[in-house]
Amino acid sequence: MANTALLPFEGEVLALWEGGSAYRVAPDSLETLGLKNWGEGLAHMPFSAHPLPERDGSYWNFGFAPYAGAGGTLVIYRFRPGAGMEAVTPLPLPFPGYLHDFAQTDRHLLFLVPPYRYDPAAGRTFVDRFRWEPETGSRLLVLDKDDLTRRQVFELPAGFVFHFGHAALKGRELRLQLCWYDSPALMASGMTSLVAHGQTVSPTHARASTVVADLGSGRAALETSGTVLEFPGFDERADPAAALLYGAGKAGVAGERPVDTVAAWNPATGAVDEYRYSYGVQAEEPLFVPDDSAKPGRGWLLQTYLDCNAGFTGLNVFDAAAVGAGPLASATMARALPLGFHGTFLPA
Ligand SMILES: [Fe+2]
Repeated sequence: MANTALLPFEGEVLALWEGGSAYRVAPDSLETLGLKNWGEGLAHMPFSAHPLPERDGSYWNFGFAPYAGAGGTLVIYRFRPGAGMEAVTPLPLPFPGYLHDFAQTDRHLLFLVPPYRYDPAAGRTFVDRFRWEPETGSRLLVLDKDDLTRRQVFELPAGFVFHFGHAALKGRELRLQLCWYDSPALMASGMTSLVAHGQTVSPTHARASTVVADLGSGRAALETSGTVLEFPGFDERADPAAALLYGAGKAGVAGERPVDTVAAWNPATGAVDEYRYSYGVQAEEPLFVPDDSAKPGRGWLLQTYLDCNAGFTGLNVFDAAAVGAGPLASATMARALPLGFHGTFLPA
């Protein structure tokens, strides 16, 4: 069940999902070692698959319980290698939504809350219980890291987000990179279709987008691009005001072709450096792996893919600064692996 993303932690790997506790995995054997229980009362608590690293070596994470309270309850976690869980802060949300991932600046935690209301009477499965209420619009929730009860809320158009890139604060202007869907169709019907029929049916895909919020005026705006992008990643060393956003994409938001592209998108200019696989190849999340030059943006993108024509899984390595030049190195398996969600890179 814990199969959404992975976090190397204290010599183990945490296999994360979002409905409950992570599972501890042995990095060499991949043996499951058991539930990650952070302490009394925390076993089985919602714990997202996307913890964020703080500059001091600790991590932030959140858990979202949409069924707890009127708008659900957001739980903020702060944990640290060697010290375990340092703080758990439950925050009732004043409005409903769904949360899979979040973002940060040096001072803030950022949540995009789509107008997706959890209603136990609306369906039998967890996913079916969310109702899309576009008339409500989305909200950007900005929490102060130093005092999580201090919040600012910004109104945005109705939309849906799974994943975020980097965010930067310059003066009072906050710029947040994210993968924006016009509706929750991928979650509402795409996932069900994938499980039931082995195919995703998604009317539209996500576009690389920027939310610009003015912390002074309390107003925010959404800037969407024409670049289809999901599974975003970036170089943590880079200035977040100038970092590229890497991801998996495809030619058009509604095209028939699956995700078949690896792209580096420049939020400041809109420029895209991309490599497209041949027809019948489905690309997965590209992982940015920094080189040892300490130069921001220097490193590699590792991307697994499924070749549906020849029936095998492969791994390509790209120069992150020259994606369009094609893979620098490739490895292939003699068999096909099922498509996954997120991955992680462990140095040998
Ligand atoms: Fe995710």
